[in-house]
Amino acid sequence: MRLFINIDHVATVRQARRSDEPDPARVAVLAELGGADGITVHLREDRRHIQDRDVDLLMQTVRTGVNLEIATVEAMVDRALGWRPAAVTLVPEKREEITTEGGLHLAGSAGDRTSEAVSRLRAAGIRTSLFIDPDPDTIRVSAELGADAVELHTGEYANSSDAADRTLQVARLRQAAELARDLGLSVHAGHGLTYENVGPVAALETCEELNIGHSVISRSVFVGIERAVREMQERVRRARA
Ligand code: PXP
Repeated sequence: MRLFINIDHVATVRQARRSDEPDPARVAVLAELGGADGITVHLREDRRHIQDRDVDLLMQTVRTGVNLEIATVEAMVDRALGWRPAAVTLVPEKREEITTEGGLHLAGSAGDRTSEAVSRLRAAGIRTSLFIDPDPDTIRVSAELGADAVELHTGEYANSSDAADRTLQVARLRQAAELARDLGLSVHAGHGLTYENVGPVAALETCEELNIGHSVISRSVFVGIERAVREMQERVRRARA
């Protein structure tokens, strides 16, 4: 299981003052020292947190690997091809949302756009993942579109209202992960995962990668990023064992 740390919200704090601190590239170094297996950033079209310069710097300084999240838009794919990160995750994007609200829709022309983006990225040797809801039909389409991986949206699990709902959401994620694996896709998961709720998702044997941001960056305010990452790694490893 790889733990990728999403550092968007380091840039959120910086952009609150349009200043030059805190610097995501410096935080990435410390996250790696804390045991992060990779660094994830979402370059949104509105550039509300991560800026192009951040990606420039991260591409030069990150030693594990950069997972760049982008919308399925030609201009963003062009930017990604210029940087050639280890991985690109295609995500849905809406200007008015606070954070990514749901998985990609892959029917009709959206599927054609996704297929085009996946083939351009894969031709450049970039591992390509699709952020989707844990839904069997969407998983089948993801496999048909030729993606290397799917990232299962864990938001509904994270927001589950009670223990029964939580059990149901874990079962849904498990079935989705197994179907994806059977179709030859690598399985990632993320969104809304915290120190308290990461266990059951980390324990899914078919899942190879977690992407976690807000909870780790929040804890880092108290304990520093290196320790915050180490503590999340410990939880993931314990759940895995
Ligand atoms: N995965 C994807 C595709 C995301 O868009 C995000 C949020 O930017 C995350 C994972 C991380 O979510 P969180 O910040 O809630 O841990």
